[in-house]
Amino acid sequence: MSPYNMTSLQPYNTFGLDVNSKQLLTFKNTDELLDHLNQLKSSGEPYLILGGGSNVLFTSDFEGTVLKNEVGGISVIEEDHESVIIEAGGGEVWHNLVLWSIQNGYGGIENMSLIPGSVGAAPMQNIGAYGTEIKDVFVSLDAFEIASGNLRSFQLEDCQFGYRESVFKRALKNQFVIIRVRLKLTKVGFHKINTSYGMIENELKEQHILNPTIKDVSDAVIRIRQSKLPDPKEIGNSGSFFKNPILPKEQIDKLKNEFPDIPVYPVDENQVKTAAGWLIDQAGWKGFRDGNFGVHKNQALVLVNYGGAKGKDIYDLSEKIIESIKEKFGIELEREVNIY
Ligand code: EPU
Repeated sequence: MSPYNMTSLQPYNTFGLDVNSKQLLTFKNTDELLDHLNQLKSSGEPYLILGGGSNVLFTSDFEGTVLKNEVGGISVIEEDHESVIIEAGGGEVWHNLVLWSIQNGYGGIENMSLIPGSVGAAPMQNIGAYGTEIKDVFVSLDAFEIASGNLRSFQLEDCQFGYRESVFKRALKNQFVIIRVRLKLTKVGFHKINTSYGMIENELKEQHILNPTIKDVSDAVIRIRQSKLPDPKEIGNSGSFFKNPILPKEQIDKLKNEFPDIPVYPVDENQVKTAAGWLIDQAGWKGFRDGNFGVHKNQALVLVNYGGAKGKDIYDLSEKIIESIKEKFGIELEREVNIY
């Protein structure tokens, strides 16, 4: 394997950007990962670890090696009358895990159906949708420490989960590779379905479903997502490009005077969250298109590559959006996507 073989990363990033790395190596277990890292450390070659490639924007070629997590396997490791603890390899596709849980009658992650990306990337940014986050069902994970080559276990409290945040994005950034994740799911019959998110409720009502199963909830989420979010197989994108901003209550109270419709979601006593999609929409960006890139027509939080766009163009567009939101609302948007 020559380290100078250029590898196209187009199939490995959901933005579908046509960028290259020097090489792409995969690993199915920690021994393979260790071998790759030892080789790379001795050559001094830069590397990056990739999961499903659904949360990255490559603004240029990556002058190094991409290591792709392909650690597989989904199994029940503990079981009682009401619940199971399941373990999944970091390289598994997240949505496949959701489908598996539904087939087996285990509730807890159905609201997170169709989130693109891998199981290993899911805790990194505490993925969430429609009223549920991975932290709600999280038990523990095993992560490979790059510096020492040791496998370390992280319990719920060690991960420091927050809104689209974890210790792996902050203090321990780029230091660990998530190998296996364990979740506690509840057996159907004991599981309490969460349809508190208005859009799910509406969707179920429209379908005349009174007593939804986990499959009904999953199907509703899939339909909502498909109606609002572009399918990366058709239009390149990485889901929400920005995070929803968390603001002090006083700031939102002032904004409400001028913008009475601004969405407000409670966070804690002093803070609230608002919807970045709403802000970007109000600033007139929804459906904006410049040649082969733009802002999605149904969800302003999603930047899209219509085919052949450059990552740099999408990045520059995100800068313009950040500036415009700052000017109109005095709010500084933060990117959710990792930029390389
Ligand atoms: N809105 C607009 N215009 C838009 C988009 C949204 O006015 O173009 C308004 C909506 O009408 C609604 C509010 O903004 O009042 C919130 O919109 P939505 O419910 O679609 O959710 P979101 O806050 O934009 C978040 C997550 C999504 C997740 C949904 C559903 C973030 C950054 N995004 O989006 O996650 O699917 O809630 O729970 O938290 C992702 O992270 O990639 C992702 C897709």
